[in-house]
Amino acid sequence: MHLNGKKILLGVTGSIAAYKSAFLIRLLIKAGADVKVIMTDAAASFISPLTLSVLSKNPVYSDFSKSDGSGEWNNHVEFGIWADIMIIAPATANTLAKMANGICDNLLLATYLSARCPVYFAPAMDLDMYIHPSTTRNIQRLIEYGNHIIHPEDGELASGLVGEGRMAEPEHIVQEIYRSLNGSNDFSGKFFLVTAGPTFEAIDPVRYIGNRSSGKMGFEIAEAIANNGGEVILISGPSRLRTNHPNIRMHFVENAAEMYQLSLEHFSDVDVAILSAAVADYRPVKSSDSKIKKKDHDLILHLEATQDILASLGKIKEDQLLIGFALETDNEIPNARKKLKNKNADLIILNSLNDKGAGFDHDTNKIYFVEKDSETEFDLMQKSEVANIIVNKIKELI
Ligand code: CTP
Repeated sequence: MHLNGKKILLGVTGSIAAYKSAFLIRLLIKAGADVKVIMTDAAASFISPLTLSVLSKNPVYSDFSKSDGSGEWNNHVEFGIWADIMIIAPATANTLAKMANGICDNLLLATYLSARCPVYFAPAMDLDMYIHPSTTRNIQRLIEYGNHIIHPEDGELASGLVGEGRMAEPEHIVQEIYRSLNGSNDFSGKFFLVTAGPTFEAIDPVRYIGNRSSGKMGFEIAEAIANNGGEVILISGPSRLRTNHPNIRMHFVENAAEMYQLSLEHFSDVDVAILSAAVADYRPVKSSDSKIKKKDHDLILHLEATQDILASLGKIKEDQLLIGFALETDNEIPNARKKLKNKNADLIILNSLNDKGAGFDHDTNKIYFVEKDSETEFDLMQKSEVANIIVNKIKELI
């Protein structure tokens, strides 16, 4: 992965994850980037400016005035103009709150406010802070302003608690930067439909039949296409994920019927459809208008089949490219090939639940391309990398 000559401005704020900034800088420098670091005072309690200066091969900035006593100032506007990309990692709840509200009481925040380049932020905090409504609202607002989030990961936190809030690993952050800086225009003028996430089929006003799909794979695919200049209609079932990519038109739906309707509406406008959603195959025949009360006998739910979106698009497709997914537990390749044929798709991307780290709710995936006369197996990799492989395959097929 090369970032030769790319100018990267790294903002470091006061979280224990600041130690990861050292690794991040090393990876960026190794990839050939030119890195300048701005730290908040709180960050300096977690990692020394000297460490980051040695690794970045540049002075580390934290004050508006230069530390050499010359009375000159560190020009935040110039930093913002200099950078090809600004990344704030780790980004604390405090800094995110200030960014979301236009507060600029330190050099890092003033630089953020004046930056003209894309800004990425990698939150790092304890899980309760991360899911606090104020943090959620601040992040949402930052995304609405056009900034990009690099989602934290689930895992053990410095507090000993386990959950979401751990800063993304430096390798992952470098991948995001790489993708952002190395987009192409190969899909310029082309239109894409992507479905993502689970569907929720209502049983009554409070209960539903759903599944564990997070939507990650579909969102990654949509972003990878958009980074290559394609225009994307992204139809997602209920998911916490968001995107603010200017090339992506986002629609959220609740259930299979809504996803079917919208997909059908848009299909004739697109060149390629990639159906990665985990659509429910069955829904309750009738969802109750009021909450179903507990009785002292068994409850039998009568389910009916939903429309198969992939198969329906397969029936009406003209010269469009139609790509489906298959999640299998056994007899994987033959089953995927059956879906390819029965649903009239051009490519099935197979996940096997037997592969560790693949499928729902992981950041990684292991896929196979199943085509009419061939199949290709790939190693386990980050979903963002999988998305790039799928994008390259689409380039080959259209
Ligand atoms: N799919 C769809 N509409 C449905 C069900 C599935 O569009 N109602 C799509 C999925 O988005 C995916 C592909 O069909 O691209 C295969 O989904 P999968 O659930 O693996 O296949 P099913 O046909 O539902 O078969 P089964 O669950 O029996 O394996």
